[in-house]
Amino acid sequence: MTQSTVTPHQTTPAAPMSAPEHKADTPPDTKTEAKTNPNPPAGKAPKGPDWWLMMKAFLTQGKRIASFAPSSRFMARKIIDGIDWNTARNIVELGAGTGPITAEMVKRARPETKIVVIELDPTLCGRLRDRFRGTPNVEVVLGDATKFGDLLLERGIPKVDHVLSGLPLPSFPAVARDAVLETAAKTIAEGGTFRQLTVMPLIYYKLYRRYFESVRFRFVPFNLPPGGVYVCRGYRGTPAK
Ligand SMILES: C[S@@+](CC[C@H](N)C(=O)[O-])C[C@H]1O[C@@H](n2cnc3c(N)ncnc32)[C@H](O)[C@@H]1O
Repeated sequence: MTQSTVTPHQTTPAAPMSAPEHKADTPPDTKTEAKTNPNPPAGKAPKGPDWWLMMKAFLTQGKRIASFAPSSRFMARKIIDGIDWNTARNIVELGAGTGPITAEMVKRARPETKIVVIELDPTLCGRLRDRFRGTPNVEVVLGDATKFGDLLLERGIPKVDHVLSGLPLPSFPAVARDAVLETAAKTIAEGGTFRQLTVMPLIYYKLYRRYFESVRFRFVPFNLPPGGVYVCRGYRGTPAK
C-alpha cells in the first residue's frame, strides 16, 4: 500500500505507509520536512470506511497502530469525560487514527478551543484532513508525536489544557515514551491531565504510575476490543532505568 498523491507544494513526498526503513516502533524523523513545511500535506482523502483503513494500517504496520479498529464512541466519550469545555483553550491529540475522539471533541468544544491533532500515518492523516476540513478550530498535523512540543511551539502554543493520547506508548522504545511523557509534563497547564487510551485494560497501570503521582483507570467494556483510559496527573520525572 503506497501513498499516491503528492501535491504541487509538497517538498518531500510523504512516507509510504509501509516504509521498509521504519521499524514498527521507530517513528520516522519528520523534522527535516517540518523545517521546510510545518504541516506537510498528507495523501488525498482515502476511500473506504474507517474500520477498513484501521484494519489495513494494522495489518501492514502492526504495533505502530496497535489496534485493528477505531475507538468506539464509548471510548471516545470516556477519554474526554470531565474536560471543562468552558475554559479549555488548547487540546492536543496524539495518534488520532481516523478521528473518533476528535469527532467527539468537536461536538463539545467551543469555536475558541483549538484542537491540534497529530498523526504519523499519511493515509490516516488524509482521512482526518478530509473529515475535519470544515472545522476551523481543528488543525490536523502529519507528524511524529514524539516531537509534539516543537509542533505546538511552531503553532504558537506553549501550553495545552489536556494531552489525549492514542499512541501505543507501551510498545514505544523507552526513550521515545519518555520524550512524549516529559513533553506532556512540560506542556500541560496547571490542573490539566494526560489521558491515555488502551485496549489492554489495567495491564499498564504500573507503567504509568512510574511516571505519574496519580493514575485513574476508567474501564470501557463497549469497545472492540474492550479497553479503557488512564487519566494521569502529577509527573514524577523520567523513571530510573
Ligand atoms: C491505537 S491507534 C488509535 C487511533 C485513534 N486514536 C482511535 O482511538 O481510534 C494508534 C494511532 O497512533 C498513531 N501513531 C503511532 N505512532 C505515532 C507517532 N509517533 N506519532 C503520531 N502518531 C502515531 C498510529 O498511526 C495510529 O493511528
